[in-house]
Amino acid sequence: MLQRQDLLGLIDVSKEEITEILDLAHEFKTRIKAGEKKMGYLTGKTATILFYENSTRTRTSFEQAAKYLGMTTINIEAGTSSVAKGETLVDTGKTLDAQKNDFIIMRHPMGGAPYLLAKTVQASVLNAGDGINEHPTQALLDMLTMRETFGSLQGLKVAILGDIKHSRVAKSNLFGLKTMGAEVRMFAPETLIPKGMDQLGATICSSREEALKDVDVVMGLRIQLERQKAGNFPSLGEYAANYGVNEEHLALAKPNAIVLHPGPVNRGVELTSAVIDHERSRIEDQVLSGVAVRMAALCLLDEARK
Ligand code: NCD
Repeated sequence: MLQRQDLLGLIDVSKEEITEILDLAHEFKTRIKAGEKKMGYLTGKTATILFYENSTRTRTSFEQAAKYLGMTTINIEAGTSSVAKGETLVDTGKTLDAQKNDFIIMRHPMGGAPYLLAKTVQASVLNAGDGINEHPTQALLDMLTMRETFGSLQGLKVAILGDIKHSRVAKSNLFGLKTMGAEVRMFAPETLIPKGMDQLGATICSSREEALKDVDVVMGLRIQLERQKAGNFPSLGEYAANYGVNEEHLALAKPNAIVLHPGPVNRGVELTSAVIDHERSRIEDQVLSGVAVRMAALCLLDEARK
């Protein structure tokens, strides 16, 4: 049983809770693969999907997950809602609560916004990415793909390369993977690694070779151009040459290592096209893991509310 009614970040989610989510997600993924599309465990429940930031896969993934579970969903894009008229997040939350929503799934450009919403509303809040803070369901889906490949997360060596500074995915993965007993290495230009990552348990590597040597998982992260107000590196070409991963670099990892990326990818920047499309790439599998993990999170949060 989850010890919470909202899923805001992995910073305080226990090993038992992560295991419970991954176990159920694995079951859902197996059933989806077998062609099942109606698993009406949450029939009659409602979710509002409230996105203040762009998204393709996360939004559709949550929506698909809710639909497979028989739920009714409403999509709100901040640009077309009363937010554009100046309504505060708390007031938006109160309105959604008055409509008796069971879940609010929110993406917001400000770190901490879902925590504020969760304090205000009765509905369960799922964080679909808050600023540069956390993106818990992305890390859970990454962990599902890793666990299904290797059987366990305990002792896995995971290298995260790319824009770590602006990445909520990197932080949620660090929290989740450390809780599950994995080793997390990080490699990027110094300007793209926030201070304190080592204190949170990451091994900061000083070369691509050190980062990739004998790892089980190579995770590329997008260089988030929209968040680069201060130029953190000279050019994308230089980034790709000095920090990107090509097939030669991939050969440093274990022979059965897998490649992950949360998407969207900048082809040829953080990973070359050959690596993205490599037989060891699990980027497409991650997408299906995403639907399954979100179904599991919705079901388990619902159970915890009862
Ligand atoms: C990520 C995000 O939005 O945090 N993408 C995603 O959810 N699949 C990473 C990114 O935008 O680069």
